[in-house]
Amino acid sequence: MGTDREPIAVIGTGYVGLVTAAGFAQLGSDVWCVDVDAEKIARLNRGEVPIYEPGLEECVARNRGRLHFSSELSPALEHARLLFVAVGTPPTYSGDADLSAVDQVVGAMPSSDRHALVMKSTVPVGTGAAIRRMFDLQGKSGFGYVSCPEFLKEGSALSDFLKPDRVVIGDDRDWAGDAVVKLYEPFDAPLVRTDIASAEMIKLASNAFLATKISFINEIAVVCEETGADVLKVAQGMGLDERIGPKFLRAGIGWGGSCFGKDVTALKKLAANTGYQFQLLNASLEVNELQKRRIVAKLQKHLGRLVGKRIGLLGLAFKPDTDDMRDAASLVLAARLQAEGARVTAFDPVAEEVARGLITGVEFCPSAMDCAEGCDAIVLVTEWREFRELDFVEMARRMRGRLVLDGRNFFDPGTIQSAGLTYEGVGRR
Ligand SMILES: NC(=O)c1ccc[n+]([C@@H]2O[C@H](COP(=O)([O-])OP(=O)(O)OC[C@H]3O[C@@H](n4cnc5c(N)ncnc54)[C@H](O)[C@@H]3O)[C@@H](O)[C@H]2O)c1
Repeated sequence: MGTDREPIAVIGTGYVGLVTAAGFAQLGSDVWCVDVDAEKIARLNRGEVPIYEPGLEECVARNRGRLHFSSELSPALEHARLLFVAVGTPPTYSGDADLSAVDQVVGAMPSSDRHALVMKSTVPVGTGAAIRRMFDLQGKSGFGYVSCPEFLKEGSALSDFLKPDRVVIGDDRDWAGDAVVKLYEPFDAPLVRTDIASAEMIKLASNAFLATKISFINEIAVVCEETGADVLKVAQGMGLDERIGPKFLRAGIGWGGSCFGKDVTALKKLAANTGYQFQLLNASLEVNELQKRRIVAKLQKHLGRLVGKRIGLLGLAFKPDTDDMRDAASLVLAARLQAEGARVTAFDPVAEEVARGLITGVEFCPSAMDCAEGCDAIVLVTEWREFRELDFVEMARRMRGRLVLDGRNFFDPGTIQSAGLTYEGVGRR
């Protein structure tokens, strides 16, 4: 395509892989994408983008000429020397990371001294060293290895990828590490170049810290509710301290998504495997679980027994601007409410299709108003921007009961109260 950018390969075309591929293609690289999911590859070859991520479809379309999709590895190996790995690393039953997809990729590599794996997947500390040992055992000692963890956030993944607040590269100071540094030069972001184990730990520790910060403010919110303080003001006052900062201090019904729970658990297990009990992470996970369940207790406080009550869930995705339902609070809420005998309606502007495969017994509605129809209570689960425009007077007319539980402290209590509804947020009077 007439640029001097290095061609690369991306193995795994999910949220991270496809964004990485589109982002590097946007910068001028030819990108050879590989995925074992033949249906996904067929859709990508038809020009369809299988996930919802703002700007991604347009970026893929714009760079169509540089993006090549295949379920075969050979075109990637032929055209690229750097193979970015973005396969899933979900938790196993034990909580340790499941590295079977990573192992599959490693096993599929040929013997080569001109290729390197660049690990974007989040993996336990020590994985790079284990992969090097695996390469040695398989007679592929010349295969390079670089750790390059990804910090993008779903919902703003493409812009996070293109404007990273830092680039972390862990390597053995060889050609592969130098080549990855060069690829990231145009991003003009602070570079942390370190050894492989430290790069792996930076990713796990960052996610564990962020998750713990949210769990911390959620515990403060509980105490605020008991003592009459307002967590929004508390967070504002705390966040102005530059040592604390305002981000990740929003109380709510807890974090979800594919990363926090899995990475916090993986770090906890990693520590336990060395004989250390990481107490803070136990608490962080436990608080997050309780936070989702507190919503059920709040509904019971207002409505009594939930048998036969109709509860509407506004939003299902784990956060706005994504269709990702992995570890979403809505999964726990829908199940718990039904277990208490409630009838559950739900509306999500984007995630319904994915949610239908994961949630049973729930009535999916075409709009927020339909979701509220005949409800005893509405629970805001995901703060989609369009919910700001809700007409609460109309909603009050449609509902049977009066209660709005704002699980994200997103609505203006005054607007809801002046529509004749009862407002309850998280950690607010
Ligand atoms: N999603 C995020 O926000 C995020 C952010 C930073 C890091 N990460 C990490 O990135 C990794 C990928 O996460 P994701 O959310 O993109 O996962 P995902 O499930 O959306 O995508 C993984 C893709 O890998 C494919 N795959 C599995 N095995 C394969 C193989 N052997 N060869 C080729 N393709 C294979 C799957 O078919 C799937 O398309 C995980 O380790 C995750 O922890 C995710």
